[in-house]
Amino acid sequence: MRRLIPVLVTAVLGLATAPPATADTRHAPSGTTVDCAKVKCIALTFDDGPGRYTAQLLDLLRRHHTKVTFFLVGQRVAKSGKIARRMAREGHQIGDHTFTHPHLTSLTDDQIRDELSRTQDAIHRATGRRPDIMRPPYGDTDDRVGAIATELGLSQILWNGSARDWELRDTKAITRKVLGLAKRDRVILMHDIWPETVAAMPKILTTLEKQGYHVVPVKSLLRGRQLLPGDTYPVGGWN
Ligand code: NI
Repeated sequence: MRRLIPVLVTAVLGLATAPPATADTRHAPSGTTVDCAKVKCIALTFDDGPGRYTAQLLDLLRRHHTKVTFFLVGQRVAKSGKIARRMAREGHQIGDHTFTHPHLTSLTDDQIRDELSRTQDAIHRATGRRPDIMRPPYGDTDDRVGAIATELGLSQILWNGSARDWELRDTKAITRKVLGLAKRDRVILMHDIWPETVAAMPKILTTLEKQGYHVVPVKSLLRGRQLLPGDTYPVGGWN
């Protein structure tokens, strides 16, 4: 898996595709851009949705002027694009979490391609934007998955802190776990399909804010560097 390429090369290669000023920083508190080189940032990321509690989470994030990243399951987006549309409109980053949430490394090349591209299509139909980041379900990836992601214009986003909310299923325990993981520039894995996770978010957000953190979408951690298709971030595994 390729590592991040320095900014100069990336800037040259990325000229044609570089997006304009990103929506994720537009709504930052006090209207300023969050610069993670200067302030303490952390990225909360939510997988497997949209689900029945996602709208509640979006309401809370809006009250806190906070942007996060959602890795969406394509078949859920295909059923109803409304929530995905709202995420995009409110400035959150949206990534591809496959169409049916399989273990990608157990599939054929064509099946992997299908899982990822159908989800890109569904998200594009719902939001008008084609995602350029993906997260492999279960973190299950290899060079073959990486090559197909590259072909589809996707970088892979992993994590370096997990809420383990699917097994804790307890609001206080999830709150404690996430706050215990909090560290500058960390990418935290959570799941908005669980009510306990969404219920933990008010305390998590107010505590992180008190501790001086800026909760940002994952790409903001890159401090202006671009991810290229095939890049993996964060480099160095997960726990
Ligand atoms: Ni997942």
